[in-house]
Amino acid sequence: MLASAECMTVEQRALLRHRKRSVYPFLQASGYIRGVTGMTITVKARHPALGAEIHGVDMRQPLDAETLQEVVDAWMKHLVVVFPGQHITDQEHVAFTRQLGEPEIFHQTSLHLRSDGVKEIFLVSNVDERDRLMRPSEPSQKQLSSSRMWHTDSSYRPMPSVGSLLHGIEISRTGGMTQFINMYMVYEDLPERLRSEVEGRKARHDFSMLHRLVGSPAPTPEEQAAMPPVWHPLVRRHPVTGRKSLYISSIYNDAIEGMDDAAAHRLIEDLTAFSAQPKYMYRHEWEPDDVLMWDNRCTVHAVTPHDPDERRVMHRTTIVGREPVLAG
Ligand SMILES: [Fe+2]
Repeated sequence: MLASAECMTVEQRALLRHRKRSVYPFLQASGYIRGVTGMTITVKARHPALGAEIHGVDMRQPLDAETLQEVVDAWMKHLVVVFPGQHITDQEHVAFTRQLGEPEIFHQTSLHLRSDGVKEIFLVSNVDERDRLMRPSEPSQKQLSSSRMWHTDSSYRPMPSVGSLLHGIEISRTGGMTQFINMYMVYEDLPERLRSEVEGRKARHDFSMLHRLVGSPAPTPEEQAAMPPVWHPLVRRHPVTGRKSLYISSIYNDAIEGMDDAAAHRLIEDLTAFSAQPKYMYRHEWEPDDVLMWDNRCTVHAVTPHDPDERRVMHRTTIVGREPVLAG
């Protein structure tokens, strides 16, 4: 069951609010006064497990502190939120992201997945910046194909990302849905056999796993040095909600503490298969200028395939992690 704000005691609500204030210092620092932007948001769930749409936000404008808090509350409750109809530039995308935290700058430069124009933008696109449709066999496209497998962004970092914001600029009609899983619910429902395997254990997350998995170029020595493998708990506690979730990222997990490679691989496969059940999943069908914002700490996602002759252009910002993964 998803815990809801309605079920919390006054103390729990106060603790949650305190944690949010601690985690989102910009809320206190913000000089915006409610009423200046005149925004009133409405939130409508799209799936019982996760996913909601938020109306009443114009991402080209800064949010006042109270509206920002409402957006964060909805995000923490629904894990994935969509802001439909956002006609934003890359600069506005980055400025909106900055209200939630510092945007990541992708370490890898060799495959040109980072925008030349705005360095905080990660290009989830099969069209290059000269407007050329790229083929699936090209290195950057091979690497992006890993996003069809369940993962959470930047889990290979010592302090993995808080969340991501993806702007659908040219969307696919032949596939290209982005699917999300509520990993709180997965953890709560784990069968005993799987639960006993993950409790108290860590998994390794290695960026260079992508090269072994999908045949994209190996990271350069400089990139490898910037992204050494890291170990994170398989069960993590969310720093804002305090809830426990399963933390796996199948495209980066290449080892598990106390297991040989074959057993580790099998366990990640079993955990992924258990997670990918429709009751835990929201599947997002894109409309142009949707901006989707998800929490990387308690969800995993995967994109469905689409016709490679169809253009698909999405720009992503990723919020820098602020602390190491807390063991659950
Ligand atoms: Fe991703």
